[in-house]
Amino acid sequence: MNIEKPKDVLHSSHTSTRRRMAPEPQVRDELPADAAAIAQLTAAAFANAPHTSHAEQFIVDALRRAGQLTLSLVALEGEDIVGHVAVSPVSVSSGARGWYGLGPISVAPDRQGQGIGATLMRRALQRLREAGAAGCVLLGDPAYYGRFGFVVRPGLTLPGVPAEYFQAICFSGEWATGDVKYHEAFDATA
Ligand SMILES: CC(C)(COP(=O)(O)OP(=O)(O)OC[C@H]1O[C@@H](n2cnc3c(N)ncnc32)[C@H](O)[C@@H]1OP(=O)(O)O)[C@@H](O)C(=O)NCCC(=O)NCCS
Repeated sequence: MNIEKPKDVLHSSHTSTRRRMAPEPQVRDELPADAAAIAQLTAAAFANAPHTSHAEQFIVDALRRAGQLTLSLVALEGEDIVGHVAVSPVSVSSGARGWYGLGPISVAPDRQGQGIGATLMRRALQRLREAGAAGCVLLGDPAYYGRFGFVVRPGLTLPGVPAEYFQAICFSGEWATGDVKYHEAFDATA
């Protein structure tokens, strides 16, 4: 799987000198006509990311083809798609139900650091909660995702990645335990 590997971890050298000055963007579910723009945005967002397979746009497309895009939210600036987040179901070895994986999440390179990613994160988590999800996992920098409530949960693991980067948030009060597996769409390379 691509996104589960440390190469997708947020770059720790990123500085926090940029400030959130833009108003909160409009967010909506993707429309069929958005697919190409989402792929283009995703490729652009990850183009200069240091820890990436550059396959994230293919993963989003493969999830969509497989009917596994539980959520595909876009952030808009006017008519332009400037941010996107994907959420898909994951399985847990214990058999726990109702768990999802968040990612890839992408913001247009020239719009990063303006709160668009945070808005997408909050909306995606709100939608999962409203839908009765048990919880959500992701792979990323704890310094970024901790602010949304994600924690490292001992016993809920993604094999093959450093434990400190695999994080989860529980909505139901009942934590899952075991190994998490993402959909095979995360193996997409083209
Ligand atoms: C990661 C990403 C989605 C965040 O979206 P964003 O709109 O830039 O982030 P926000 O403006 O909401 O949040 C800014 C905060 O996040 C931090 N941040 C943003 N990008 C970061 C990064 N790549 N690494 C570490 N921290 C990051 C900033 O330091 C800032 O912190 P502060 O609030 O303490 O100042 C966006 O930067 C992006 O598309 N990056 C490239 C793709 C990627 O790495 N995706 C995540 C892996 S799936």
